[in-house]
Amino acid sequence: MPQRILAQIIEQRELTPSHYRLRLAAPEIAQTAKAGQYVHVLPRATHSFDPLLRRAFSIMRAAEDAIDILYRIEGRGTALLARRKAGETIDVLGPLGLPFAPLTTHNILVGGGVGVPPLVLLAAQAVPEVRIQALIGARAATEIIGQEDFRDYDVPVEVATDDGSAGHQGLVTDLLERQLSQSGLTGQGLTVFACGPLPMLRVVAAMSQRYKVPCQVSLEENMPCGVGVCNGCVVPVLGAGDDYGNYRRICVDGPVLWANEVNWGHYSGDSC
Ligand SMILES: Cc1cc2nc3c(=O)[nH]c(=O)nc-3n(C[C@H](O)[C@H](O)[C@H](O)COP(=O)(O)OP(=O)(O)OC[C@H]3O[C@@H](n4cnc5c(N)ncnc54)[C@H](O)[C@@H]3O)c2cc1C
Ligand code: FES
Repeated sequence: MPQRILAQIIEQRELTPSHYRLRLAAPEIAQTAKAGQYVHVLPRATHSFDPLLRRAFSIMRAAEDAIDILYRIEGRGTALLARRKAGETIDVLGPLGLPFAPLTTHNILVGGGVGVPPLVLLAAQAVPEVRIQALIGARAATEIIGQEDFRDYDVPVEVATDDGSAGHQGLVTDLLERQLSQSGLTGQGLTVFACGPLPMLRVVAAMSQRYKVPCQVSLEENMPCGVGVCNGCVVPVLGAGDDYGNYRRICVDGPVLWANEVNWGHYSGDSC
């Protein structure tokens, strides 16, 4: 059950001038959060109404009565969030959304940019019997997210950077293609889990379909309300037929969907 809490900031760590990791005291959320779920955060100080709307962030870590989110400064809301200091409180709603499906025998996690955080929690919550390979894409070595976290969970990691400053020079989907073509695991309990920019997710979805591997994607739409009432976050899907026709509200019916549910041909990523 989602809770609305005033969470104290335990730590606001600057990783790069545009990336921050925020640790919040949030026992109510930490104790129930599942990988793929998110929190809806009011970045403003408690006496202000600016900005009016909450911003969504994936839960990256949920342990010891605290949660971590990792965010990149995109616009006004995240810039305000970066100014909040340890000891202050912040209005948080969560955990929200539907989590990833359970891990299978073999799993490939594909994360691009600030899409990596929910995959880190997926690895953290894995049982020892499952095998996981993490693939991380970033613009440059300084923007690689989650590498140390995956290593802490004994998950092997391969990295791709656009500028070649770390790992493979190129796209994280090059690494996925290599894994899928060489692993010999297709059809043997292999699942792909992905979160990142829309162009990356399109390629991951198409590639997984080509190799006949089930794939889950976590989509990042702007979410004005976060509780399913405004329709600001809808994503086109194939063969639906519920109250929302050929759309799903990503805030409550997602953010995780099976890749073969999404109508990629009609999805532009700017629903609101
Ligand atoms: C499920 C989910 C998980 C996410 N996880 C992460 C994560 O782990 N890390 C991360 O860095 N990012 C994550 N994001 C993206 C993050 O939510 C955005 O980067 C953030 O909302 C940007 O906020 P901003 O105010 O800085 O940017 P802006 O571009 O200023 O605002 C973001 C959006 O909020 C809406 N908005 C702002 N003001 C108004 C207004 N007045 N009226 C109507 N709409 C308005 C708009 O739709 C706008 O595009 C996630 C998004 C989703 C949906
Ligand atoms: S954000 Fe309002 S319905 Fe999804």
